[in-house]
Amino acid sequence: TETRLADWRPYPWKLDSTRLAFTIAPQATTVESTLVFGPGENGPGAEGPADLVLDGAGLNTLALTIDGQTIDETHVSRGEETLTIAAAALPPGGFTFAARVQIDPAANTALEGLYLSGGIYCTQCEAQGFRHITWYPDRPDVMAPFRVRITADQPVILSNGNPVGQGEGWAEWDDPWPKPAYLFALVAGDLRAVSGAFTTMSGRKVALNVWVRPGDEDRAGFALEALKKSMRWDEQVYGREYDLDVFNIVAVDDFNMGAMENKGLNIFNSKLVLASPETATDTDYERIEAVIAHEYFHNWTGNRITCRDWFQLCLKEGLTVFRDQQFTSDMRSAPVKRIEDVLNLRGRQFREDQGPLAHPPRPDHYQEINNFYTATVYEKGAEVIGMLKRLVGDDGYAKALDLYFQRHDGHAATIEDWLKVFEDATGRDLSQFKRWYVDAGTPRLTMTEAWDGDAGRLTLRFTQTTPPTPGQPDKPPRVIPIAVGLISPNGDEVLPTQVLEMTGASQDFTFDGLAARPVVSVLRGFSAPVMLERPIDAATQAFLLAHDTDPFTRWEAGRALARDSIIAMSQGGKPSAEYIPAVGRLLADTAADPAFRALALRLPSEEEIATAINAAGDVPDPDRIHAAREALARDIATTHRAALEATYDAMAVPGPYAPDAGPAGQRALRLAALGLLNRIDGGARAAALWESAGNMTEKQGALMALIEADRAGDALAQMEAQFGANRLVMDKWFMVQPLAASPDRAPEIAAALAERPDFDWKNPNRFRALLGGLAANHAGFHRADGAGYRFYTDWLLRLDPVNPQTTARLCSAFETFRRYDPARQALVRAELQRLAEQPGLSRNTAEMVGRILGYD
Ligand code: ARG
Ligand code: ZN
Repeated sequence: TETRLADWRPYPWKLDSTRLAFTIAPQATTVESTLVFGPGENGPGAEGPADLVLDGAGLNTLALTIDGQTIDETHVSRGEETLTIAAAALPPGGFTFAARVQIDPAANTALEGLYLSGGIYCTQCEAQGFRHITWYPDRPDVMAPFRVRITADQPVILSNGNPVGQGEGWAEWDDPWPKPAYLFALVAGDLRAVSGAFTTMSGRKVALNVWVRPGDEDRAGFALEALKKSMRWDEQVYGREYDLDVFNIVAVDDFNMGAMENKGLNIFNSKLVLASPETATDTDYERIEAVIAHEYFHNWTGNRITCRDWFQLCLKEGLTVFRDQQFTSDMRSAPVKRIEDVLNLRGRQFREDQGPLAHPPRPDHYQEINNFYTATVYEKGAEVIGMLKRLVGDDGYAKALDLYFQRHDGHAATIEDWLKVFEDATGRDLSQFKRWYVDAGTPRLTMTEAWDGDAGRLTLRFTQTTPPTPGQPDKPPRVIPIAVGLISPNGDEVLPTQVLEMTGASQDFTFDGLAARPVVSVLRGFSAPVMLERPIDAATQAFLLAHDTDPFTRWEAGRALARDSIIAMSQGGKPSAEYIPAVGRLLADTAADPAFRALALRLPSEEEIATAINAAGDVPDPDRIHAAREALARDIATTHRAALEATYDAMAVPGPYAPDAGPAGQRALRLAALGLLNRIDGGARAAALWESAGNMTEKQGALMALIEADRAGDALAQMEAQFGANRLVMDKWFMVQPLAASPDRAPEIAAALAERPDFDWKNPNRFRALLGGLAANHAGFHRADGAGYRFYTDWLLRLDPVNPQTTARLCSAFETFRRYDPARQALVRAELQRLAEQPGLSRNTAEMVGRILGYD
């Protein structure tokens, strides 16, 4: 059962208003809905008035009426997840459809629709969860104002919009902004608010609440401040103002994803709300700030302007990720944020693009839409917008966005609409640019140089090709913005950043009037999501690492040296002669931002090395890669021991903890130094840091180092004794053990942890902590005896009937399996077969397994 973009048709009826009445009870919640329909915009179709098709799944239907009359069963037909009421039963001028259904939130372990999380009733309706609540046109292009009355024996009762009435055991909410069902939300439970207020640019006063469980109030303040910063930033940068009297955020422990932008009532995975210095790391704080912003920014890019259909998901997600990236760049360090984003893109999206799950940012078919909340839709979707902005300039971008908000506010839009506002605002033809949205795969961009010394002319020749992806054998050339700069041999920049616009398969660009042959700094700021290949020697990379004025390409030069060193060592060779001295210069460069130096000091992951070996056409050997990376780390630590110790000491942050970028960067550099020194001091420094650290950032860094040094027993016991009751801290405890363990023990460690009574595997965070921790241990997961694969699959099989969405997402651990040797491939294939043959396997997981095996 496949859904296709080409099959989209407008909904034939117009939904004017939605009224819902909930009577909440754990096993039998009653939902009464009243939907007022008018004639569709296009009037009756060629065949006359249309049937009314509604979506519903797992509903116990008690009553169905049209204009108050029970619908004659002869007019009703039922599909797997649909109810069709024949046109003959519908007054063509409009009618009121009403339903009464019963649902069972307590039994809802899939966490889609209305469910219970630790005693709190909450909902998750994106993408198609609302059909688990009642019969409805559950598609994003059907939008209506909602009025919702909830009766529940709970102290706090919330829904979308503004509160319009409440009493003992009930509350009524009104959301005047028409919205699709996926933005509906309801929360009822014993919650406490950490509250604030925000005055919008036009003077509207908004009440802000972050709702948490009693006892968690002291960990919600950071999220509230992040919300205020986000609201101000969206006004200042995009001119977008909030549009209701209240904005509520609720933290729940059981959540399939990160968070959800329900209108006026964002629901969050508690790990993206709750933070204190003792329980959250600097990275957690940064993510909380970014995700609070992301969900808030959806109020305009997603809610006021939503998607016509789910194929357009990147319309809201790519843009909102792009906006949250801009926000973080403004709040923290822009260069550091850019490097982090590229690391994330390469680690997840390039990986996806190179394997069997490759798909375009705007796919055109799916079996299960929840399988398309991917790095490609989100992060590549954001990169595509970054390119668009680079091509049309900041002013063009601002004009296009103003036009987008003006033209599409209140509507459900498409990628075509989005591109059209850029064309209309800037006069540019974007037909070739559109390929970025509809073609999958990462272009390979090669650059060669020709130097004519007599003429003082440098010619750069670029060639692009994109390898085939499933269902897309041929890839025409795309528009690629290539940011370049030229640096003279003495280290001065002779040409500041210029954006070359490549449109052909192969293209030359010349630079004249050069006194000496410059060094080319190319793909500055990672100006396009491509894989760059250029013949370049290690000395030139070292030169760029020392002299490039662009922080991204500067970092990238060092990264390439490290990567090439590990690859060479894993294949029996030696590290690049340039690399270890370059690390010494980096350690000596105390004027550079510590956060940047931390990024430059950290070695590429084993996964990244495997990806690079695969891209070069070779077969990665996880054991050799692991050994090579360890050996390089030891070499660095031995050579630069004194400088690393000095850096470690200098980066101690005095005074109380603050999660700001400055001190966080110092801690990151300190931990990067610790990670290297740990290879030669037997874990002594890590043990001392574990004892002295007053914040979770350093505690977790010390703990990982202790695990690597195989002396973490006491620290793990202490952490459990202190934080056994804190789920988020215990998630870290479950995650770091398989992650940092020696590969020869990682699967067994994971298996032992899975036996513990507090391995609450129905909780997605806990499940992901353990399985994700193992999957991120490259050599441990891919251990030659298949123990990692087996353990992992056993648990996927167990979770699938309980929570298909989370199971399906975790299948992506297998997406790289064809990179490896035939023996490993056979082991993975056997596990995937075991999944495929499981009776009753969910549609979610079946689609993922089928695509990975290539049965798509
Ligand atoms: N729209 C949410 C966000 O970007 C993601 C929710 C996705 N949920 C799902 N079940 N697919 O923050
Ligand atoms: Zn989003």
